[in-house]
Amino acid sequence: MRIRLPTLALALPLFLGVLGAGANEPVPWPLGFAPTGVELDEWVANEEALADRERFEEYLEAAEKGEDTEHITVRQEDIDAGMFDLERLFQFGDAAFGHEFRHMDGYGRSRLPRSSRVHDGKQGGLDSFSCAGCHQQGGVNGAGAVTANSFYFGDGERASSAVVRNPPSVLGLGLVQLVAADMSNTLDFQRAQALANAASSGQPATVALEANGVSFGALTAMPDGSVDASQVEGIDTDLIVKPFGWKGHTASLRRFAERAANVHFGVQSHVLALGYKDKPDPSLGPGPNWWDPDADGVQRELQEGTLTAFAIYLVMLEAPLSLPPTDDGLRERAALGSALFRSIGCAACHRESLSVGSDRWWEGGDTTGGPPVELRLLRDGEKPRGDLEVQLFSDLKRHHMGDALADSNDDPDGIGRDVFLTRPLWGLAESGPYLHDGRASTVPEAVASHGGEAADARSLFLALAPEDRTNVELFLMSLTRVPRLRMPQ
Ligand code: HEC
Ligand code: HEC
Repeated sequence: MRIRLPTLALALPLFLGVLGAGANEPVPWPLGFAPTGVELDEWVANEEALADRERFEEYLEAAEKGEDTEHITVRQEDIDAGMFDLERLFQFGDAAFGHEFRHMDGYGRSRLPRSSRVHDGKQGGLDSFSCAGCHQQGGVNGAGAVTANSFYFGDGERASSAVVRNPPSVLGLGLVQLVAADMSNTLDFQRAQALANAASSGQPATVALEANGVSFGALTAMPDGSVDASQVEGIDTDLIVKPFGWKGHTASLRRFAERAANVHFGVQSHVLALGYKDKPDPSLGPGPNWWDPDADGVQRELQEGTLTAFAIYLVMLEAPLSLPPTDDGLRERAALGSALFRSIGCAACHRESLSVGSDRWWEGGDTTGGPPVELRLLRDGEKPRGDLEVQLFSDLKRHHMGDALADSNDDPDGIGRDVFLTRPLWGLAESGPYLHDGRASTVPEAVASHGGEAADARSLFLALAPEDRTNVELFLMSLTRVPRLRMPQ
């Protein structure tokens, strides 16, 4: 099991000295102040205790198999009964994210559970043992190196048959889901209004679709209650904003974690299997029943309660933040870069902020019907927590990005080969390599690959004086994550 440092993020005093110099604003340490003296001693002592405990657990697991699994097995019924507070659920989620899945907890499938970097259709591969194994670039819960790329929907053998994806960072995603859900509600309301207008007037009614200032084209409602969605843009015709995945294919963290456990580890929640009612989805495996669809002999591999813990963990992780350079000269140049970012059209897609009405979050079981766990995103969890004006640098809309970025294979979600969701740029400085397949190691390389709807912005970027291009890059490097303690080597 990995050692988790950052429940309280720290930084070395040395680093603090450098950051403090010349800055006009206080450095946004997670607790609002820099750790010194007693606090620092206390935090380091906590980290030592945590390391000791985790080492002890490793010994225990070696001596008594199954210890680790117990740490991630959470019954939804127990959550419903109020047995765990938020901190405990976070710890379960943290353990699950770092857990190395093994055969005894359902890793693998009925056919010989061999690893395959290239996924076998929807069934997935077995391409890693833990979530943390891929999401760790730039710090825990970060992005993935290009060596952690996933090869989805392939033939199980050839990388060229697959859709290649680089792991993004998983920070701040609770706010992202809430913003998207708010936008979906707005669009749903606009559709309902158009339908009501069409019904009362007996004439087709066309409505412009717009949420959070982002246009999604238009929709025409017919008097008979049907809709013509041919002018809808950048979103599926169900009008649900799906902010997760490079193509924007999933709306909820709970469902994302469930799908990830299935395709990367062959570990299925029985909820996933139950969703298919009379027989399991054949893509889950040949299993004869819901409790073991992949027929590997392990039943109920991922508890509903563990899914709840996964979701709560993800929403309680810190949010990325903006940290301008402390050097006066560089800070001025970053400010110029920020203005250029707007004036050459980057912000048309990478919108600086999207707002959300409330930070309330409810996470309940899928089948048990118990009361959902409630939390407040701006209050509960690791610091920093972000803001109701979410500084995402995305419009959460899909765009045609041109041939250079197009996938060479179809994506079974039915989203066009060159269509991608505007990737949020928050946290960018720590989330390289860039683009959906991790092909770009620098920001200018990433921008140079933009085409399609972003062709004009790319041309304007390339036409800038070299110093101005650097200014844009400097600005983007201020989109980062909170500083952390690094152990002296
Ligand atoms: C083999 C590497 C790998 C492993 C293991 C892995 N992921 Fe991922 N993760 C990815 C890739 C690649 C993507 C982008 C997928 C896409 O675009 O469809 C991703 C995307 C995500 C996202 C969406 C982030 C966003 O902003 O779009 C979440 C959430 C996530 N993973 C959570 C998890 C969880 C939870 C686990 C463990 C159950 C996990 N991942 C295991 C590679 C991995
Ligand atoms: C038409 C919408 C659009 C415009 C305009 C646009 N982008 Fe993007 N941007 C995207 C999409 C979509 C992606 C993801 C593409 C992919 O991965 O294939 C992306 C990805 C990026 C990335 C990589 C992010 C990562 O985490 O990998 C950077 C950096 C970036 N854009 C910067 C810019 C800059 C700078 C500009 C202005 C010159 C710009 N973009 C203009 C839509 C746009």
